[in-house]
Amino acid sequence: MSDYRESYRGKTILVTGGAGAIGSNLTRALGESGAELVIVLDDLSSAVRWNVPSLGNVLFVEGSILDEVELKRVFFEGPDLVFHLAALFANQNSIDHPETDLLVNGLGTLKLLQYSRLAGVRRFIYASSGCSIYGSNAPLPLTEEFMSLHLSTPYQITKMLGELYCNFFKHHYEVPVVKARFFNSYGPGELPGQYRNVIPNFIYWAMRGEPLPITGTGEETRDFTYVGDIVDGLLRAGYFEAAVGQEFNLASGKETRIIDLAEMINAQVGNRAGVVFAQKRKWDTKSRLLASVDRAKTLIGYQPHTSFEEGLSKAIAWFRENWEQIEAAARFGPGVSSAVREVSRQK
Ligand SMILES: NC(=O)c1ccc[n+]([C@@H]2O[C@H](COP(=O)([O-])OP(=O)(O)OC[C@H]3O[C@@H](n4cnc5c(N)ncnc54)[C@H](O)[C@@H]3O)[C@@H](O)[C@H]2O)c1
Repeated sequence: MSDYRESYRGKTILVTGGAGAIGSNLTRALGESGAELVIVLDDLSSAVRWNVPSLGNVLFVEGSILDEVELKRVFFEGPDLVFHLAALFANQNSIDHPETDLLVNGLGTLKLLQYSRLAGVRRFIYASSGCSIYGSNAPLPLTEEFMSLHLSTPYQITKMLGELYCNFFKHHYEVPVVKARFFNSYGPGELPGQYRNVIPNFIYWAMRGEPLPITGTGEETRDFTYVGDIVDGLLRAGYFEAAVGQEFNLASGKETRIIDLAEMINAQVGNRAGVVFAQKRKWDTKSRLLASVDRAKTLIGYQPHTSFEEGLSKAIAWFRENWEQIEAAARFGPGVSSAVREVSRQK
């Protein structure tokens, strides 16, 4: 095992949001690295219990990061490191629930930093969002020195707020923070749903034999990053000293058009229903996303390894293996997604 993975052996680690799409994969990797204890604090507001890895050294605590009793309980275990991934996710959700967004992503992050400071943790790794920080007009590929104050959703604002709190705790209290900016994570462990990302939703519609709803022209691009590569970056972020106080992108460094993504998923799943176009969402102001991973490479030796084809196959295989549970858990309430489905029904 490499040094950075080996470094988690015997450690106690807190993962907030550890039942979620990225957190569940991180929890498994930490559990398998020989950690003494991995504590998952998650209120299951956008996740399911069965997604938490069943390992002997994983302790699942169902509760909110806003709940002082639960925070005292998990910090009583004396975590050496904190991976803070719990958040209200993501853009449309934050437009529909701006106050919860501020509470969870703003106050929740502040509370985690306060407890981490008092506990004297060796590392606090914050799940930031590259799609948030850079706004809509930054030059491509996106590099860390650029930032924008013209953000288009409450989620983007509060993910940036989290970084600003991290900076304050580093400068004022010397909490060893790391800000990892993720780009469009996908892979096993992410459920479809009204507020979820395009890939699990496309796989879901494809498996149901329905047309894939594209909000826009399909020419838009994203930097889709396999969750295993993001987890590898997080494990590195918790180990390498050079990461402390820094912010860096965890991305694939490649662009994929949404129309190509849709066609790949339909082909892999065997869905003949094609695609259907719906109106672009007002907040969706980014026509292209492509990140530079140079800084992460220099600081922590990060290098994404998973090809898009391979990552998609793994995500689809996970859907096939867990289809009944996934279908039961998929939440599509009233709102944009159902409007998109309506469009597809009418075509
Ligand atoms: N998925 C991406 O592409 C992406 C991109 C950029 C940043 N991020 C960030 O990475 C982190 C993980 O993202 P994800 O895709 O796994 O999202 P996710 O929604 O699957 O995971 C977040 C988890 O936090 C939990 N949670 C929400 N509110 C909580 C609260 N008050 N107390 C405790 N738990 C709570 C949810 O139940 C969920 O399990 C988030 O902070 C997100 O903002 C994700």
